[in-house]
Amino acid sequence: MQVTKNIYNVGVNDREVDLFEGQYIVPNGMAYNSYLIIDEKIALLDTVAQGFYNEWLKNIKDVLGDKKVDFLIVQHMEPDHSYNVMNFLKENPETKVVASSKAFIMMKNFFGEDFLDRQVVVGENSTLSLGERTLTFVTAPMVHWPEVIMTYDAKDQVVFSADGFGKFVALDADEEWACEARRYYFGIVGKYGAPVQTLLKKIGGLPIKTICPLHGPVLTENLGYYINLYNVWSSYQSEVDGTFIAYTSVYGNTKKVAMLLKDELEKRGEKVAISDLAREDMAECVEDAFKYSKLVLATTTYNGDIFPFMKTFIDALVERNYQNKRVGFIENGSWAPVAYKKMQAMLEKSKNLTFMEQVVTILSACSKDNLEQIGKLADQLLNK
Ligand code: FEO
Repeated sequence: MQVTKNIYNVGVNDREVDLFEGQYIVPNGMAYNSYLIIDEKIALLDTVAQGFYNEWLKNIKDVLGDKKVDFLIVQHMEPDHSYNVMNFLKENPETKVVASSKAFIMMKNFFGEDFLDRQVVVGENSTLSLGERTLTFVTAPMVHWPEVIMTYDAKDQVVFSADGFGKFVALDADEEWACEARRYYFGIVGKYGAPVQTLLKKIGGLPIKTICPLHGPVLTENLGYYINLYNVWSSYQSEVDGTFIAYTSVYGNTKKVAMLLKDELEKRGEKVAISDLAREDMAECVEDAFKYSKLVLATTTYNGDIFPFMKTFIDALVERNYQNKRVGFIENGSWAPVAYKKMQAMLEKSKNLTFMEQVVTILSACSKDNLEQIGKLADQLLNK
């Protein structure tokens, strides 16, 4: 796939992957992009995942014919991109390897080999001349691993953004960008908002016409839209003024109260999303928790603690630096409800969360008192 006159995506689509990175469902598959830059010298950016070596080589050959790759630039060592580094370099002994010093250490760990005789070690603002164009490298530690570099081609004004600006999807699928890009972002780099902010500042001053990520489509138009979303996500701002209600319910009583709260909020003009944590994709729920400005957690007391799916959910939020939200609680417990205290304690380390004073405590099933509490909680969430 041609990106500009002399830049091609020679990556592959993965329609077979069951769980990306061992945990994320990808209903529309996954793309592992890899880019060729053709100049007096030829650079190849990153390889592809296990199982795609021959398909990737064919894509390269379709563009290059018998020409050889001068530089393999390894931007990121996670195996979805680096799996075929060793295979490619074994078959191409003249190709030099361009990467950060940390990436070479990882190569030794992954492959038992760091290609010392053909290393080109690059760091912040290092350059590599290909002839007419000179590539500049930008370090991007923790977007998404510490060794990551990104690459800027000033001639065509292209940023090769490694995992940044990627998304879950194979390139032969047709879907809007933001939903799966958001689920990918908060799943994979959500914890690293500060490094993403640093990166946005570094590339902020560059003229950019095209963003070439290692996953998902090449971005060519309306780049401000994507960059703005990355700024919102990485600075932990909310994208939507509204409430996300996340619940678990064993026999339907907690669900009933969660739905009543949804009705009360909507009556007051609030935008509301609601999910059953046991039945819906956890990564989608995590994404919604970051997207909305308010969160309500509703769960049962279970084994003197909280229901397992809720525990997993709160852990996923806290480890991703969840912050800057208004938070309400609904708890259920037939004889000794402790869910509210447990949920609040789990969130204590999170920054800038405002907990609503009104807690809805269900003692088995929704009571008249609960109806009153639900109304009060709705008012408090909306600051009324
Ligand atoms: Fe797509 Fe962090 O690897």
